[in-house]
Amino acid sequence: MTRLPTVEAFREAFGAAFGSPPDLIARAPGRVNLIGEHTDYNDGFVMPMAIDREVRVAVRRRTDRLVRLVSVNYHAHSEFSLDDVAHDPAQPWSNYERGVVRILLDSGAIVGGFDMAIVGDVPQGAGLSSSAAVEVATLTALNSLFGLGLAPFEVAKMGQRAEREFVGVSCGIMDQAISAVGRAGHAMLLDCRSLETTLVPLGSDVAVVVTDTAVTRGLVGSAYNDRRAECEDASAHFATVYPSVRALRDVSEVQFQAHANELAQVVAKRARHVVTENARVINAGEAFRRGDLPEVGRLMYASHDSLRDDFEVTVPELDFLVDLSRSRAGVFGARMTGAGFGGCIVALVKPEAVASYVEQIAAEYRTETGLIPRVFVCHATDGAGVIG
Ligand code: GLA
Repeated sequence: MTRLPTVEAFREAFGAAFGSPPDLIARAPGRVNLIGEHTDYNDGFVMPMAIDREVRVAVRRRTDRLVRLVSVNYHAHSEFSLDDVAHDPAQPWSNYERGVVRILLDSGAIVGGFDMAIVGDVPQGAGLSSSAAVEVATLTALNSLFGLGLAPFEVAKMGQRAEREFVGVSCGIMDQAISAVGRAGHAMLLDCRSLETTLVPLGSDVAVVVTDTAVTRGLVGSAYNDRRAECEDASAHFATVYPSVRALRDVSEVQFQAHANELAQVVAKRARHVVTENARVINAGEAFRRGDLPEVGRLMYASHDSLRDDFEVTVPELDFLVDLSRSRAGVFGARMTGAGFGGCIVALVKPEAVASYVEQIAAEYRTETGLIPRVFVCHATDGAGVIG
């Protein structure tokens, strides 16, 4: 993983790559989701926070229609014309910027050519939304560079469209939204239908510890899209029974119970996860408000169990890390975070217990799997902005 250069060093790296300094530098953070998994594309509720791992882009306008991209992490470059925005199979990292440019052009935004350097320290393939951070950082920079006047949620929606329409993963709005609108010191309860946000102060009684299994599974995109289709099947069925249902968000636990047996077994399991998970997010929001961290933790474990048994997106390494957390003193709760199929768990831990938790979990995981997990204590940061 690349260490993030200072803003000054990054400005110099841009100058070395392109011959003169950038017009501006923007940043956008990765995220960890505390609870509410696979609910966003069901119009439901999520509770992510932006983390102190981010992507930075430096950019300068050109007078022609060329776009030149340099990745500091990959020591690679890629270029294209605004008149032909296609995938670059040799430089897949560039497809996020290409997707953003394509969506901007499709939506009628007036952008010209530009040179851009990209650097980041969000772990990739770990479920911490490095791709959303690239999309939101790129959009934030171009928004300012070309005076597009996009509000933060418009930036988020365009980033989501780039991921869905260009990269090909039918993601929800969570990752791009929290990267755009996160708030330091807070998680955010987000209603993915109305985009209404409620800040959740984290306070000083809890630390957010993320442990990366170091496992990534191929075909995450297609398994993700399959889950989404199963949820849509379930919602279509409930809409025939309850005409006001537009998404699984609209199905209560009682309604689910009454009609679950009319669904194919797998579809019923997927729906049960989403319906119960939405309730858990709302309950977690209330528990945070009361300062009831043990209850938040209990809901996190229940979320993990549901993702393991009903949504079937965990892997043994994720289950093992969560099970290790269950028996630890000072740990309120833990669960997988992100899309699943590998990636990270997130745990809420008493600050004084962090050091021993980190040490023990890393050692036991290594003994069990032979893999070395990366463990980070994450701090909630502000969403995207121009920083230079
Ligand atoms: C990925 C997607 C999000 C969300 C999560 C699962 O991170 O990008 O939109 O669906 O998976 O909660």
